[in-house]
Amino acid sequence: MTDTATARALTGGDEQTVRVELGQRGYDIRIGRGVLETAGAQIAAVLPGARLAVIADETVASLHLEAFADSLDRAGLRHTAITVPPGESTKCMREFERLCDEVLAARLERGDAIVALGGGVVGDLTGFVAAAVRRGMAFVQVPTSLLAQVDSSVGGKTGINSRYGKNLIGAFHQPVLVLADTAVLDTLPLRDFRAGYAEVAKYGLLGDAEFFAWLEANWKAVFAGGPERDEAVARSCRAKAEVVAADELETGRRALLNLGHTFGHALESAVSYETGRLVHGEGVSIGMMLAHEFSERLGLIGAEPVARVRAHLAEVGLPVSVQDIPGQLPTAGTFLDIIAQDKKVSRGALTFILTRGIGDAFVEKGVDPDLVSDFLKEKLQA
Ligand code: GLY
Repeated sequence: MTDTATARALTGGDEQTVRVELGQRGYDIRIGRGVLETAGAQIAAVLPGARLAVIADETVASLHLEAFADSLDRAGLRHTAITVPPGESTKCMREFERLCDEVLAARLERGDAIVALGGGVVGDLTGFVAAAVRRGMAFVQVPTSLLAQVDSSVGGKTGINSRYGKNLIGAFHQPVLVLADTAVLDTLPLRDFRAGYAEVAKYGLLGDAEFFAWLEANWKAVFAGGPERDEAVARSCRAKAEVVAADELETGRRALLNLGHTFGHALESAVSYETGRLVHGEGVSIGMMLAHEFSERLGLIGAEPVARVRAHLAEVGLPVSVQDIPGQLPTAGTFLDIIAQDKKVSRGALTFILTRGIGDAFVEKGVDPDLVSDFLKEKLQA
């Protein structure tokens, strides 16, 4: 890194670009305050003359659709807006079918594009519509939650939920551009911002100890919306872009991004996805703690780094143990059953992301279910 690049990386402030290097399917992620205002020009540069279907949930539409549509108008891009109800239940076959029909009814052609303006639900659902309609249309992600900016809008995972579990129907379909306006995060409820922050911390924990230390020192500024927020989003996207470029279809290393997710998804499922009790990022926070504690139990990591992770997540206000979840929880046996049904199971063997230290996570296949069961029994009784 040059001195200027280092200084800029440390101070943030300007718009930053992170490239996802996937050859002909590579794309830029533009990050900064006010990116939404220039969205039309940025999309027109990548997709000149395209007509757009903009899909947003009703909450995001009421906050940001007008400004976004103005920007498209200024760039001379024709567009149709389609709204969906907010919430996870929107990621379903019925909405998928309706959106496919609406895009076709709007007579969008293969050279046109579909835009997701919203959080992870809208991004995943819209991406799957873009993957399916006319066997694949161009797709732009405009993520408006922290979680979507640092995780779900990058890397091309799209899909909907099935009665058998979350995200079980979907496709890999990369966007052609991601526009992450960090100013729109000012309107996020604190609980949602915190939940997204769990995914930011994840990048430090899985592969970048220096970033984790930077977050320990700068998290308040990240929450407050200073240049540090842009820097945290950019560093997270850079980390994700690098993993996705190396293993787009998750045959190996990309699984590292699931740190905390095996336990986290099981917790979300155990509370029947009641967001009043637990949202995804909170499940990931507790899941990351359980992954560290389980690694400690296996003698892979010492108590001191585990305590440091707990202290940071707790300091930002994230839950760090199963006891932080309100209400009754199921037994260890039920948890294990849920884990065994997870996508991260291959021929009955449990796959976990474990760690040897802060920034030193690894994929462990074939974890003994009895060890997990004993560990969970203890954690649930604690
Ligand atoms: N959220 C994990 C991944 O994109 O692979």
